[in-house]
Amino acid sequence: MAILITGGSGYIGSHTAVELIQAGYEVIIVDNLSNSKPEVCNRIKEITGIKPKFYELNLLNEAGLNQLFDNEVIESVIHFAGYKAVGESVDKPLAYYENNVTSTINLCKVMQAHQVNKLIFSSSATVYGQDGISPLVETLPLSATNPYGNSKVIIENILKDLSASNPKWQITSLRYFNPIGAHQSGLIGEEPSGIPNNLLPFITQVAIGKMVKLAVFGNDYDTPDGTGVRDYIHVLDLAKGHIAALNQLEEQKGYDVFNLGTGKGCSVLDIISTFELVNQVSVPYMVVERRPGDIAACYADTHKAEQVLGWQALYTLEDMCRDSWNWQKKNPDGY
Ligand code: WQD
Repeated sequence: MAILITGGSGYIGSHTAVELIQAGYEVIIVDNLSNSKPEVCNRIKEITGIKPKFYELNLLNEAGLNQLFDNEVIESVIHFAGYKAVGESVDKPLAYYENNVTSTINLCKVMQAHQVNKLIFSSSATVYGQDGISPLVETLPLSATNPYGNSKVIIENILKDLSASNPKWQITSLRYFNPIGAHQSGLIGEEPSGIPNNLLPFITQVAIGKMVKLAVFGNDYDTPDGTGVRDYIHVLDLAKGHIAALNQLEEQKGYDVFNLGTGKGCSVLDIISTFELVNQVSVPYMVVERRPGDIAACYADTHKAEQVLGWQALYTLEDMCRDSWNWQKKNPDGY
């Protein structure tokens, strides 16, 4: 019986595949390679000794997905596949809703037709939307402020309704905060397509000289040093959180949702200074205007995952900065 990982050659998916294989699971990856490369599966083999079976498929292709489930014996699904750039979602809302929401509906229909009832969904802290209410707890009302975040809210609601329609469904949504870092081997990591959106890939590209300077988006927020505060979590902690959620699914009735964060907030300047200290490199920066849509602070209340999943983040900010830099140095041009 295999675990199907949609979007499994992506950043979080590939790290989760490594952790699952090393925990003894059989893994199958389905990915349309719109934001990842086939080389990732070779790297997973280099790390684990096992090359996961791979299907290149867009989840909008329901017939193709049906064929996959006919061919394989799948026990549960971890669903990462989806577009995830907030700014891009504002420019291309229809593409985001079709890709993220419709592909999830297709996946659930095919799972239902094949009596596969265990699903873990990759959600995001973006669903909380509001500022000034951290630490964020799972029971807060959801209020996304962009099409990407809204697609996650819509999918969470679909999964909740689906679960309520039939007690056989066992579904968990995991709300990620800010995943950064890379596997210690430096063989897999975050490879942004084009100009990075997120902070860490931008920092590592400035440090390696691919970019001249980091733009710090505002230092006039109501935070200790005026720059944005986020809950940065090592991608391997995130991967282990998926295994904890998979194990919990065995005795879970219906739908549940968990934050996956550290519970600690770090500012942009904290990240820059930690990165420079740990890696003995310089990250020149300049403070510019705030980025539209950004909030001052966002970090998790982590009690529920600790108490119910028996999971908590263990890697430090120093580990995250060291592992991010190791990946960038070993892969200056990505995969
Ligand atoms: C972090 C901080 C920026 C870049 C996004 C998505 C979220 C999730 C993670 C998918 C903020 C500042 C950034 C830069 C900067 N993705 N920054 N200069 O916006 O918290 O979250 O990525 O699930 O859904 O919203 O992450 O890394 O873009 O920004 O100053 O060049 O770094 O203002 O304070 P964000 P980020």
